[in-house]
Amino acid sequence: MSDRELSGPVSSALAERDLLVVSNRQPYAHNYEDGEITVSRPAGGLTAGLDPVMRHAEGTWIAWGDGDADFEAADDGRVEVPPDDPSYTLSRVELSEADLEGYYYGYSNRALWPLCHGMIFPARCDGRDFERYRAVNRRFAETTAEQANEESLIWFQDYHFALAPRFVRQEVPNALVGQFWHIPWPAFETLRVCPQADSLVDGLLANDLLVFHTEEYVENFLDCVTALLPDATVDRETATVAYEGLETTVRAFPLGIDTDRTERLADTEDVWPAVAERYGIADKTVAVGVDRLDYTKGIPERLDAIERFFEEHPDRRGEFTYIQNGSASRSEIESYEYLQQRVDAAVDRVNDRFGTDEWQPVVRIDRMLPEEELYALYRYSDLALVSALRDGMNLVAKEYVASQLDDDGVLLLSEFAGAYEELGEDAVTINPYDTQAFAEAIERAISLPEPERRSRMSALRQEVRAYDLFDWMDDVLETLLACETERDRSTDYA
Ligand code: G6P
Repeated sequence: MSDRELSGPVSSALAERDLLVVSNRQPYAHNYEDGEITVSRPAGGLTAGLDPVMRHAEGTWIAWGDGDADFEAADDGRVEVPPDDPSYTLSRVELSEADLEGYYYGYSNRALWPLCHGMIFPARCDGRDFERYRAVNRRFAETTAEQANEESLIWFQDYHFALAPRFVRQEVPNALVGQFWHIPWPAFETLRVCPQADSLVDGLLANDLLVFHTEEYVENFLDCVTALLPDATVDRETATVAYEGLETTVRAFPLGIDTDRTERLADTEDVWPAVAERYGIADKTVAVGVDRLDYTKGIPERLDAIERFFEEHPDRRGEFTYIQNGSASRSEIESYEYLQQRVDAAVDRVNDRFGTDEWQPVVRIDRMLPEEELYALYRYSDLALVSALRDGMNLVAKEYVASQLDDDGVLLLSEFAGAYEELGEDAVTINPYDTQAFAEAIERAISLPEPERRSRMSALRQEVRAYDLFDWMDDVLETLLACETERDRSTDYA
């Protein structure tokens, strides 16, 4: 838990009212291990960040129960967590194979994920998947409504639930409903290929508050509303939409990280020598990349740039090592399988071309690293390569920066990651589509004079600290609470 706390008004509102969080991934999973039921905890990210808030609020978290013992450990799907100090309810939704195929793999990750990242080519918006997505959204909404009342705050997370707010609103019309969309929102020109686009926007406009990471995504969303829903009234000045008797406030609050926790985790002086030894990088210049293996992250593009860098700078051979950490993801989907093959081929190619008996240019770590190893790598790597082709935010960029306790690393950051809005000025900018420029940026980053390197990193650290996970949560929840005041006001004077 962090030393930081939520602001007074948010904290007291949460103590008085029911908070219900709805996400696809759950904060705790029960699984069988050698015949015994064990509980695994979230590794990091938003699930870890929301856990302390839920403990404080003693709320209810509704999520897909994906552990193989989840429904043995729970009574009617409900279990009190954390297991060692029960303070809130985890309410699990059971999904069948067909649900997973249509809702998770099908519509969420074959249609919405690529389209929202501006990628039309891998997208498939199959009407049958959409029907399953709708049915699962309805089921999550029903589970939520059963546990909510008209005073509740209901907070949906992400693109798995574009339709659920409308279903919840039908059951508990006066509850305060908000949603955070963790990925980009695309330009209308991209979303236009999706035959269900109007239903998606209709569902999202049942929220009192809809939050994105950046102003660009807010603008894109408002453009889509204008293009798709002739009955909606969009007010660009106030970024609100009036539709179906409700006013939806649309805002940009960039997700931050728990910087106190990150700095504590990065205190890895004792761990680093063993980690460096294990990967053969003790005396090397090290660049690190940490990503789920996803085609939006620009991993093959990064490996191409590293290959070009060794071609153009033969003196760096034997001296510079790139560590690629990340595990496979959503492998049942063809575009992910193809990506994995491209990454395998690129790593082999670079290592075959340039590797020697004593040195490997690319070290690949496929498993999820224990936190202390990951944060040692963050802290002691000279460079971090974040080369997303498109990314809602990219918290790895922020985690790397917050781990630079000695202020001496360099962040190379794609201008197409949401994080670029906050960090672009002091990072070394890359365009992952330009291999030559990317390779030159790596050389430039290694050669930055020390004073410049330090002043850039210290500015980046201040930037990440200035708006952290708790500032973000305060902003989202305060703005959601303010929607109620607005609503009361318009009722009074209507
Ligand atoms: C992105 C999404 C999250 C998702 C995560 C991991 O960050 O915004 O909602 O949980 O990827 O993907 P997965 O499909 O494994 O949940």
